[in-house]
Amino acid sequence: MKDTQSTSWQNVAAWYDKLVGSEGHYYHQHVVLPGLLRLLDLQPENSLLDLGCGQGILSRVIAPVSAYLGIDRSKSLIEAAKAIPSPKNYSFQVFDVTRELQAAEPIFSHAAIVLALQNMEYAEGALGNAAAYLKTGGKLVIVLNHPAFRIPRQSGWDIDKKTKQQFRWENRYASPLKIPIHMLPGKDSSAVTWSFHRSLQDYFKMLKNAGFVVTDLEEWASDKASVGKASKMENRSRREFPLFMAIVAQKV
Ligand SMILES: C[S@@+](CC[C@H](N)C(=O)[O-])C[C@H]1O[C@@H](n2cnc3c(N)ncnc32)[C@H](O)[C@@H]1O
Repeated sequence: MKDTQSTSWQNVAAWYDKLVGSEGHYYHQHVVLPGLLRLLDLQPENSLLDLGCGQGILSRVIAPVSAYLGIDRSKSLIEAAKAIPSPKNYSFQVFDVTRELQAAEPIFSHAAIVLALQNMEYAEGALGNAAAYLKTGGKLVIVLNHPAFRIPRQSGWDIDKKTKQQFRWENRYASPLKIPIHMLPGKDSSAVTWSFHRSLQDYFKMLKNAGFVVTDLEEWASDKASVGKASKMENRSRREFPLFMAIVAQKV
């Protein structure tokens, strides 16, 4: 049987590397990275563990830290990360971060999981590894596609014919879902990744079970702006329903 979990991002690695490039994709640059850097608040003496690091975008936008380790399951994305020169105290590894890491020691002050936890079926494993690697009191920042409003195939926009108002519809929220995402529709049918939807309650329980307390939560809207006839309605909806959620947790 094909191991869809291990190959899914590997199949789209070249496309994703090109999309993110050296500065990040649109939402990285405009919303995710500025918010993430503010929440991480890294100081030169800090060290950062980046789980599901992709092609290493975070390593390239942080101010220098004492150590950085990026881990991702996709060999091609880690190769792309390594191809860009980085300080010698930065390193990258190919590994499934939901599996127990060998000899993990609590040596990092900070950890990040950026737009990646939703791609992991066994997210508890990744949180367990974050806890194993973080020092007591260490900070974990998770950035998610907003789990309450952006549920692939189960939520979207529509217009109410009577009121002519745009609204957000949602079919499912409470149940965990495993959803295939066609990354290159109409171009390459094998370019499928998997999204694992969980409710907020489930995320908070997972964090608690892994030994974290949640200290902050932010919701980030898109900064795009529509023009034209429907712009007022569309811009309002965009502001009302955030695209991303950031959770800050502390290892206790
Ligand atoms: C949307 S990309 C985000 C990558 C990067 N954090 C960024 O912001 O560009 C999701 C990443 O999660 C990685 N990933 C998914 N499941 C994983 C696992 N079990 N272990 C390690 N990495 C995983 C994928 O290979 C992919 O690079």
